[in-house]
Amino acid sequence: MKLEYFFVLVISSIISFCSFSCEKKNVEAPYALTISEGFINPIGFYDSRPTLSWKLPVSEQVKSQTAYQVVLASSEELLPNNPDLWDSNKQDSEQVSFVKYQGKVLESRQKVYWQVRYWNENGKVSEWSEANTFELGLLHNIDWKAKWTGLDTAKDSIKGVRKFLMHKPQYLRKGFTLPNHVKSARLYITAKGIFDVHLNGKNVSDDVMPPGWTPYNHRIETLTYNVTDFLEIGKNVIAVELATGWHSGRISRGKALYDNFASPKVLCQLEITLKDGSKQTILSDESWKGTTNGPIRLAGIYDGETYNANFEIPNWSTSNFDDVSWQNVEVEPISDDVQLEPKRHTTVKNKTIIKDVEIVSVKENSVIFNLKQNMVGIPNVKVPMKKGDTLTIRFSEMLLNDGTFYTTNYRSAQSTDYYIAAADGIIEYKPKFTFHGFQFVELSGFDKEAKPETTWVEGIVQHSDFEKNGTFTSSHHKLNQLQSNITWGLRDNFFDVPTDCPQRDERLGWTGDAQVISPTAMFNYNTHAFWTAWLQSMRETQSEHNNGLIPFIIPDVLQNNNGSSGWGDAGVIIPWDIYNITGDISVLEENYDMSKKWVSYYQSKAENYIPNMYSFADWLQPYPEKTGKIGNRGDTPKELINTAYFAHSAHLVSKMARVLGKTEEEKIYKKLYKEVANAFENTFFDNGKFTGKKQTQTSYLLAIYFDLLKPETKVKAQKQLLEEIKNANNHLGTGFLGTPLLPKVLDDMGEIDLMYKILFKETYPSWFYSINQGATTMWERWNSFSKAEGYNPQSMNSLNHYAYGAVGQWMYERIAGIASLEPGYKKIRIAPIPNTDFLNSASASLNTPYGKASSSWKIENKTFQLEVVVAPNTSAEVHIPYGSIENLYVNGNLFKATSNIKLIHSDKEFFVISVNSGTYKFQTKL
Ligand code: BGC
Repeated sequence: MKLEYFFVLVISSIISFCSFSCEKKNVEAPYALTISEGFINPIGFYDSRPTLSWKLPVSEQVKSQTAYQVVLASSEELLPNNPDLWDSNKQDSEQVSFVKYQGKVLESRQKVYWQVRYWNENGKVSEWSEANTFELGLLHNIDWKAKWTGLDTAKDSIKGVRKFLMHKPQYLRKGFTLPNHVKSARLYITAKGIFDVHLNGKNVSDDVMPPGWTPYNHRIETLTYNVTDFLEIGKNVIAVELATGWHSGRISRGKALYDNFASPKVLCQLEITLKDGSKQTILSDESWKGTTNGPIRLAGIYDGETYNANFEIPNWSTSNFDDVSWQNVEVEPISDDVQLEPKRHTTVKNKTIIKDVEIVSVKENSVIFNLKQNMVGIPNVKVPMKKGDTLTIRFSEMLLNDGTFYTTNYRSAQSTDYYIAAADGIIEYKPKFTFHGFQFVELSGFDKEAKPETTWVEGIVQHSDFEKNGTFTSSHHKLNQLQSNITWGLRDNFFDVPTDCPQRDERLGWTGDAQVISPTAMFNYNTHAFWTAWLQSMRETQSEHNNGLIPFIIPDVLQNNNGSSGWGDAGVIIPWDIYNITGDISVLEENYDMSKKWVSYYQSKAENYIPNMYSFADWLQPYPEKTGKIGNRGDTPKELINTAYFAHSAHLVSKMARVLGKTEEEKIYKKLYKEVANAFENTFFDNGKFTGKKQTQTSYLLAIYFDLLKPETKVKAQKQLLEEIKNANNHLGTGFLGTPLLPKVLDDMGEIDLMYKILFKETYPSWFYSINQGATTMWERWNSFSKAEGYNPQSMNSLNHYAYGAVGQWMYERIAGIASLEPGYKKIRIAPIPNTDFLNSASASLNTPYGKASSSWKIENKTFQLEVVVAPNTSAEVHIPYGSIENLYVNGNLFKATSNIKLIHSDKEFFVISVNSGTYKFQTKL
């Protein structure tokens, strides 16, 4: 080979190798694209101005993002080079979440395709992400041509518990013919009531009790289903089962607002495009037929469902049925006063099935099953029966000493299902239009000849359809049981709205309970959209009250025109928490006015900054001075609590104003907070000591955590608090409002060991006390039940109430040690504080807006080991509580500062390392 040929060959192979390896080295594409509060490729989406988020890959090549570009188009072919809706162009920014769409106005039904790419820390551009989509629902009332349709069930309804009307569930149908094959079809549907919809005999979705619960006098949410595959050329039928649900059921309390007298109605619009391009729309209207003579005879949220199989109507939801004997329906036009908007969070679904069931007792023709977990949802029963017999299905959370049901705490809720058999043999039944809170199920009325089997009952667990977002575990089984009780309590009470309890005659969106639990909830479950949806209901309800009142419960079925401190503050505290946890600024934009108005409600009630208003106060504090129901409000005076929350909400509004760039308002609210704080100290404190008749932990916790005292008196108040805790022999003495503040305050004071002692207390009142009594969920009261004394005598005694689970926040932030330092965990603090008297390991992991972050520590052979994952595009401060920097090993090597990892602080307590994204294993000697 000639020399020049040889060179040409070498050079060309170098070039081709380089281009091959350069290509290989292309920066990986972003992934996990989501819209607004975490939606993935949604259809029927609610927001025509969404925000866009993505994650950077975990890769050696990517530490951070320095710029991004998003492109949106009306068809996939236009991407990425010809986006006709919006091209953000290259934006120099680290932002990877909640980037606001700023393109062309989007319309109802529109489908949008989008992609994103980013530039890494070296200025290298990534591959484009895969194209994702979103499709809008019907955004405006004007998009609806259908009419509210249904039977007049008020006229033959029966009077149920407390004389509330019980409407008979309806079966509605409409047949239609399609002249051609279907190219695509969307079903837009909702109800005044709750529904289950079928097309040609098939269930359209597995949604439970849609559309869910909003202030129906303002807004009813609508659902969109892709039903292309359900339809066929020729005869088709749409069929709807309809019941009262929250709309006209007893839970609505018969107020004009939801109208217990109004018969449920369905609204649906089936929009079909045929293969020949022509369109056809099927509407709910006067051409529909209906009957109340179907198998579901009655159904109510509190009282249960009655199913009579003798009334089953074979084939009624298929086209092989003649509805000529059915009744004509009545219709109502849609009104401009009630907004029809696509549902902005996921529906309730059947999430898990409990199959590990035990038989507790068998008596003549009745048997009790234990599902071993207090749960929410419905049973699935498979039982042998005799024709004409009635199976009675009862529920309870716990048993009485004699093995019978404890149901006093269901109060007036009947919570009983009935099934009437049409033939001999095994029946299978699960109720459709009710839900129960229970651990035990009693069946009676089954075939007397049959021997009960554990397979007769399964528990179908239902809650809003969110996924796990974080985990927490430790070396202590009771702490793990507490985590389990907290997370069960959360799922059990997130039934479309955050409820206080799932079993008795309440199940309402109590604001105070929600306010204390939201950070723990957001850590454990992906509940961003769940909360923002409920906040919209809160805003709508507040807007009715021009003095800024936020009622106790949302949706407000009580309508007593009253506000409570610590409860209405949910309208300020929850948006602020969501912003800090997610980094989503739109939650502040949406709720800032509501927050200001709530502060103005305090102002309207205040004289010299001390509001005189209603309050549930430190609800259910243990050992109250007064017994019985009055004692439920605890001993901390409501005036103190009113003033503390007034100051705190004003303070948070000033912080929101700062984030939103409203400098003037930031100053105004900060000044107001200072003035209220000053009045608070002068009125309720003297030289750091609470001046009330009875010293309470909560009076100090509020004063300290809300920063209401001068620095010199704050120190004294801290000492008083310690004194109070000592007097209680290291037990907590707090109710709903004080409890979530206790760990935060003790932590700020450096009293971590004391907090551990309180948390690990076994005796009343404490977290482990209920565990020792057999709890599998959080209880409403510290003493809801004890093996020695039985049940609390008050019937308000839910065994599934999440408020005291708020300690979960401290468990993951401090025991495992993972907390957000900048909104959305852009910067995290990994600062576990182990206490070897109780634990030798703990860990938590969290799906942050940037990706997975985790902290996991263990102590073994006198060595402290901490494994940390820091998501791409974020950084962390890692606090190491043992050893010294000289004996610190990082990923197996002695610590050496680099651009990626630095020592930023050191003292005798701990030292602090700053790190960029990556995975690290730290080790020191104790
Ligand atoms: C509810 C609560 C609520 C409280 C207010 C109760 O009936 O269950 O959890 O916060 O009332 O007093």
